[in-house]
Amino acid sequence: MTAPFRILGIAGSLRAGSYNRLLLEAARDLAPAGVAVDLISLRTVEPFDGDVEAAGDPPGVAALKAAIRDADALIVSTPEYNGAVPGVLQNAIDWASRPRGDAPLTDKPIVVTSASPGLRGGARAHAALRQVLANAGARVVPGPILALGGVEVAFDADGRLLDGAAQADLAALLAALVEAGGFAAADKRRAA
Ligand code: FNR
Repeated sequence: MTAPFRILGIAGSLRAGSYNRLLLEAARDLAPAGVAVDLISLRTVEPFDGDVEAAGDPPGVAALKAAIRDADALIVSTPEYNGAVPGVLQNAIDWASRPRGDAPLTDKPIVVTSASPGLRGGARAHAALRQVLANAGARVVPGPILALGGVEVAFDADGRLLDGAAQADLAALLAALVEAGGFAAADKRRAA
């Protein structure tokens, strides 16, 4: 049996009822055969500190970096805090962008989504996150811009995504990731 294509889902929110996490759970439910989406929490990732880094990655960071390295691709969903990416998510990206030259994020295929009660669905954070990930060396994969607004009514009482257009966007983003991940794996094989 072939191993599944493994996508790691990271939500930039820690709260239990996070809409961004629900969006990633919807992606997990929509994943086609042969594709596995696993979610990771950023709760245990320590705050970035260059002195701590110099002494060796602490446990939460080591776990995050291992999960990113093990994944073929990532889907990251961000809330918008004051027009920007929340600190916990920026912190995780900062850790995973290092060390330069051997960072878990280098060339990792990634798609971005965002969700907010506001009409624009966190579009400013969405755009900022793409920029931050590109600066960190990730391969930000093009696809539909899913910035889901009005999230209080986007899910049913069981947390299932109701919006058909958003479901189609998620499916297209997963397909784009698989294609980009396949190419990245082939690139790696050619380079080896
Ligand atoms: C927010 N929120 C918010 N929403 C938005 O669309 N634009 C914004 O600039 C902000 N700013 C902001 C700052 C802070 C500190 C908080 C706590 C919240 C609201 C935010 O979108 C809302 O709480 C979402 O539900 C957060 O995402 P999760 O936790 O549901 O994934």
